[in-house]
Amino acid sequence: MTRTVASLIAGKPVDASVTTLTIPNPANLDVVVAEAALADADTFLEACRVAKDAQRGWAATPAPVRGRAIQQFGRLVEDNFEALSALITREIGKPIAESRGEVQEVIDTCNFFLGEGRRLYGQTVPSEMPDKQLFTFRTPVGVAAIVTAGNFPVAVPSWYIVPALVCGNAVVWKPAEYTPATAEAFAQLLLHAGLPEGVFNLVLADGVQTFEGLERALDEGVLDKIGFTGSSDVGRSIGELAGRHLQNPCLELGGKNPLVVMPDADLDLAVEGALFSGFGTAGQRCTSLGTAIVHASIHDEFVARFDAAVGGAAIGDPTQAVLYGPMISQRFADRFEQWLELIEPHQRVLGSTGVGRIAAGNPREGFVGDAEAGLFYHPTIVDGVTIDDALYATETFGPIVGVASFADFDEAMALANGHGYGLSSSVYTRDPLHAFRFRERISAGMVSVNNSTSGAEAHLPFGGNGKSGNGSRQSGVWVLDQFTKWQSMNWDYSGHLQKAQMDVADVEADLSFRLPD
Ligand code: UN1
Repeated sequence: MTRTVASLIAGKPVDASVTTLTIPNPANLDVVVAEAALADADTFLEACRVAKDAQRGWAATPAPVRGRAIQQFGRLVEDNFEALSALITREIGKPIAESRGEVQEVIDTCNFFLGEGRRLYGQTVPSEMPDKQLFTFRTPVGVAAIVTAGNFPVAVPSWYIVPALVCGNAVVWKPAEYTPATAEAFAQLLLHAGLPEGVFNLVLADGVQTFEGLERALDEGVLDKIGFTGSSDVGRSIGELAGRHLQNPCLELGGKNPLVVMPDADLDLAVEGALFSGFGTAGQRCTSLGTAIVHASIHDEFVARFDAAVGGAAIGDPTQAVLYGPMISQRFADRFEQWLELIEPHQRVLGSTGVGRIAAGNPREGFVGDAEAGLFYHPTIVDGVTIDDALYATETFGPIVGVASFADFDEAMALANGHGYGLSSSVYTRDPLHAFRFRERISAGMVSVNNSTSGAEAHLPFGGNGKSGNGSRQSGVWVLDQFTKWQSMNWDYSGHLQKAQMDVADVEADLSFRLPD
C-alpha cells in the first residue's frame, strides 16, 4: 500500500510541497512504499516559529505531566509494534527481527524517560554564609531541531525527541528524506500521545532546504538547539553554523569502529561478533565494524573462520530470518559501489561468491528470495588492510569489513585509533589486563569487551569523539545535559546584604601544631 505523507506542523499536514519523492521498497523496487511531499526552508522556519510559540506553555506544564505524555507515547508504540516494525522493513529493508529490536529501543527509551519527569533533579547547595540557601534547576533549552539519518529511522530519533520533550522543549524533527513513511508513522504516534499543539512538528525536506531553514531559524532566534546524526562532513557544517550562534549542537557522526582480537581471545565468539557488527543492517550502522584487527599468530585462523561464517550466512528477503537485506536506498547502493573501488591489489577478497550487486550473472550462493528485485550486495571481507590504505581510514557504510593484523599491543592501538574516528570499539580477550589497557587507550566513546561494536543499550551514554562527534552524549541521564541548561539560584533571608567571599566567617586553626616524633 502506498502512503502519501507530508510535513506536520501543529499536527496538520502542510500542503506547500516543493518536490515529491517516490520511495520504493529497496527489497522489491517495483513496489512503491510512499510518496513524500518535501517542504522547503520557509516551511522549516515556520515549524520553528510554531514550536517557539508552543514551547513556553509546554515548559510550564509540570514535568511529571510531560512524562505522562512520554508514557502514553511508549504505550502507543507498543500497541503498534508490528505495524511500525513491518513499515521499517518495507521502507529501508532492515531485517524484520532488527526492525522489531529498533522499535523496542524506542519503547525502552520511553520507559527510561517517563520517570525522568518525576526526577529532573536539581540540587540544594549550602551557602558560605548564614541565612542563605543555594539551589540548582534544570531549565529547558527552548526549541530543538532534530535532524536524523534513516538507518535507524525511529530508535535514534527517539533518543533525542523523548528527552527533549520531557525536559520541556519543543521539537522540529527533520528525518532522512528516504524514510518519510516511517517518520510520519512515528510522528502520528507521538501526536496522539497528548502533546499540546505545536510542541512537536515534522518537516520532510532535503538537506539543502534544511540547512537554509536552520540558518534562518537561528538568525530569527526561534531555534535554540540542534541535534544531528549523520556524516562527519555535514556535522562539521552544522557545528560551524551553531557555533556562530554560540550554540553547542549534539552531534552523532560517523565511525570506523575497530574490533581487536587478542591472541588469547575465544575465536568463535570474536567471529560471531564480527559477523553481526560487520554485516548486520548490511553494515549500515554508525556502530558497524570497520576493521577487525587481529593478532598475527591467530590471523589466518580468524580469517578462515570469518570467511566460513560470512559465506554461510543467509542474505536476502528482509521479511525472512536473514543476516541482512538490501541497501537502504539507491543512494546508499551507489555510494557502496564507490567504496568497493577502494579495494587494492595487495588485499585479498573473501566472504562470498562474488563482489558488488547480487544478480543472475553475479549470484550469491544460498541467497534468500529474488536478488534482482532489490538492492542486494555481496558481503565482502577484505584481508590485508594496512594503516596506509584508503579502506583503513574511510567509513564504508555497507557490507564490507577490513581485516588487519598486528604484532604487539602498541600496533593494535595505533590501528584502532589511527583513522581519527572514535565512536564504538571492541576487544576480544580473556585477560582483564588487556581489556582495561584497551579501555584506557582507545579514543572511542564506547567500548565493548567480548561483545561486538554494535548493539548499544538504550540507557548508557551513546556518542563519540574525534571525527565521530563533539563529545556530546545521548541516552540515559547523560542526555539531560543536552536538553537542559543549569540555572543556579541563591536566596538570602538574612535581611541584610551579605557579600560572597568578603563577608564570610573563618575558623581559627593552629597550623603550627605537629605530632610528637
Ligand atoms: C546508529 O547506527 O546510528 O548500538 C545507531 C547500536 C544501535 C544504534 C545504532 N543500538 O548499534
